[in-house]
Parts: sequence; structure tokens; C-alpha cells
Amino acid sequence: MNTVERDNAYIEHTYNRFPLTLVSGHGSIVTDENGQDYIDFATGIATNTFGVADAAWLQAVTEQAGKVQHTSNLFYSEPCARLAEKLCTRTGMRKVFFCNSGAEANEGAIKIARKYAADRGNTAPVIVTLKNSFHGRTVTTLAATGQDVYHTHFGPFPEGFVYAEANDLEDTLQKLSAENVCAILMETVQGEGGINVLETAYVQAVAAACAEQDKLLMIDEVQTGNGRTGKLYSFQHYGITPDVVSTAKGLAGGLPFGAILIGEKAEGTLVAGTHGSTFGGNPVCAAAANSIVDRLTDELFAEIEAKSAYFRETLDGADGVAELAGRGLMLGILPAKKTAADVVKECREQGLLVLTAKNKVRLLPALNIGWNEWKQGLEILKGVLAK
Ligand SMILES: Cc1ncc(COP(=O)(O)O)c(C=O)c1O
Repeated sequence: MNTVERDNAYIEHTYNRFPLTLVSGHGSIVTDENGQDYIDFATGIATNTFGVADAAWLQAVTEQAGKVQHTSNLFYSEPCARLAEKLCTRTGMRKVFFCNSGAEANEGAIKIARKYAADRGNTAPVIVTLKNSFHGRTVTTLAATGQDVYHTHFGPFPEGFVYAEANDLEDTLQKLSAENVCAILMETVQGEGGINVLETAYVQAVAAACAEQDKLLMIDEVQTGNGRTGKLYSFQHYGITPDVVSTAKGLAGGLPFGAILIGEKAEGTLVAGTHGSTFGGNPVCAAAANSIVDRLTDELFAEIEAKSAYFRETLDGADGVAELAGRGLMLGILPAKKTAADVVKECREQGLLVLTAKNKVRLLPALNIGWNEWKQGLEILKGVLAK
């Protein structure tokens, strides 16, 4: 049996895989088992922040793996403490809880909101989330996800979520001010929901209402975070300071790692015994994350902005393009002549890996993708969209 046959025989297919087995790569080029190269605009769904087999990342990972691969949270760990300090210093947040994935980070954020409410006598807390959002695959994060399609098969779901229309201030403020509402959880650019950017005035007004009403402003930065939109965290485009931030995906550059950043208002809500994780804060992942975060500099953000602008110059008004969306290097294209899935397939046949997000084509390249690969990939895409 080859890999595809073995996978089909033995792996429970919760994903419809692309017919491709990736075995190696370097930077923004990935290679399949037949030695065929592809320009990678997919990066393991925004996880391989600096591409494949990046030298600095590899050194950080292997050095730490050679010292101690895991300690558990019963002991202090230098890579975690150092990373937490960096994340707090650069965001204005006060404390960090480390976990292993985006869904777990959101579960923790939801627990913070519920305990924050309980500490104030609210024992039936409600969290507002946005329609078209995506917050994860655990039962509670599915309930938090504002898309009906995720609310089948796995009920009964936990109560305590209401869904507001994204960028509809009246609807959101009305839901936020309802009885027992303790928090709002939202992505500033909805990723899985189709690359929908929240407007500045909307986010700022929601933040102000949260501050006035003593409610927690919680930003899901699982996909938008760690440099993806051209800032360390995307909330930094909005001039706001959230109370809770969840993140994962690109944080450790391709290793499973997540974090909850906790601001002043919610600091101290989770006390000893209220939350935990065996693998959370794994030193190898934390060492990887330190190597990533250290390279998320203003110089890199300027490069990201330049590449984002080039994307718009190249595709704005181009044949077969109905709409462009996104921010930084989290980008979407609504094709005018074919489905997003067809674009993905035809690009792959021409040596370019791209993704979909609902009806859009989604690009999530490495944050340090070379200009040559970026230009070459966009030319392939332009040709496919026009045909
Ligand atoms: C915004 C957002 N939140 C949460 C998640 C869930 O993350 P994970 O798959 O690491 O659990 C995702 C994954 O796509 C996401 O995009």
C-alpha cells in the first residue's frame, strides 16, 4: 500500500484531503513524494509562520528537545516564562495561560468569562459571539461558533451563547447589554467564515461598551495572531486593549501550541485548580514560539504590508476577480468565473497551493515569503482566475 491507500484504509476521514502527500520543503517551497515542488500559500493553515524547515526555528526546537522535552506545569520552565514576558510586554496584557490549540485557547477564554461572571454573582452567564464566526471543534467552541451548520449532530450543546451580526453595531450592542451577558468573543478578521474584516468604528464601539458595562472583550486571534495581519496581534490595528486574547496556529511556527493572554480586568480570575493542561506550555513548543515572536518585528510588518499591497495591485480589477478581502497576509479572493474549490484545484495543478474560506480563495503564505515566490504564485493565481 502507498501512503494514500494506507491513509484511506486506516484514517477516519473527517477531512476530504487534497490528492497530495507532502514530504519535505524549504521556506515557501514544499515538495511531494514524487519530487514535485509547489509554492506554498497555505502554510499548514497559517501555522508554518516562517515556512518549512526554517533554520532559526529548527535550531530553537532541536536545542530545547535535546535539553528537556517536557516538564508539565508542576515545575517552572524557562522558555515559557520568557515567552509570557514577551507576549505581555508587547501587548499590554498581564498574564498568559499556555495550551495546545486554538479550540483549547477559546475554551479557556470561555471559562474565564464564566468565572468572571460567577465571581460577580451571575450564575447564568451569556457570551455574545458573531454570526459567521469560527471558534473551534470542541463541543463548547462549536456552540460559540455562530454558524448553524456546526450546530447539528453533536448536541445537546452548552447554553450561554447568543449570536450578533458582525459589523452591525445596533444588533451587537443590543445583545451585549442584555441580562446576564458577561463577554463578547470575536475574530477581527473572520477566517473560516470567509475572510471578513471587522470595521474599526464597530470594534471600537464594542470595546467602549464592554468597558462601560464591565463585560469582557475577548478577541480570538487564533488565525489573525502572531504577525499574520501585519501586527503582532490584529487587535493592535484597532487601538483597543482587549481583556482576553486567544491564540494558537502560527505561534510556535508549526508545532501545536496555544495561549490565552489575560488583561488587567480579568487577571486573577483563574486561580490554582480552576484550569490546567498536561502538555500546555510544552518547552519545545515554547522555545519554538520564542524564536517566532522574536522575529515578528516592525521591519517584518512593513514587508508584510508591502506584499499585501502588491496582492491588491496585482489582482484588483483583474479578469475573473469579483472581490478582494483581508488584511496583511491573511487574504481572500472571491472568484467571478469559477468556484473557489476549482481555483484551488487548478492552482495545485500548476504548482501553487492555496486554500478556500467559504466561497473565497484564501491565501496564508509564510510571513517571510520571498518576493519571487510571492510574485510567481500570484501570476499563477491571476491566470487561473481569468480562464
Ligand atoms: C479563529 C479560529 N479560532 C479557533 C480555531 C480552532 O483552532 P484549532 O484548530 O487549533 O483548535 C480556528 C481554526 O481554524 C480559527 O480559525
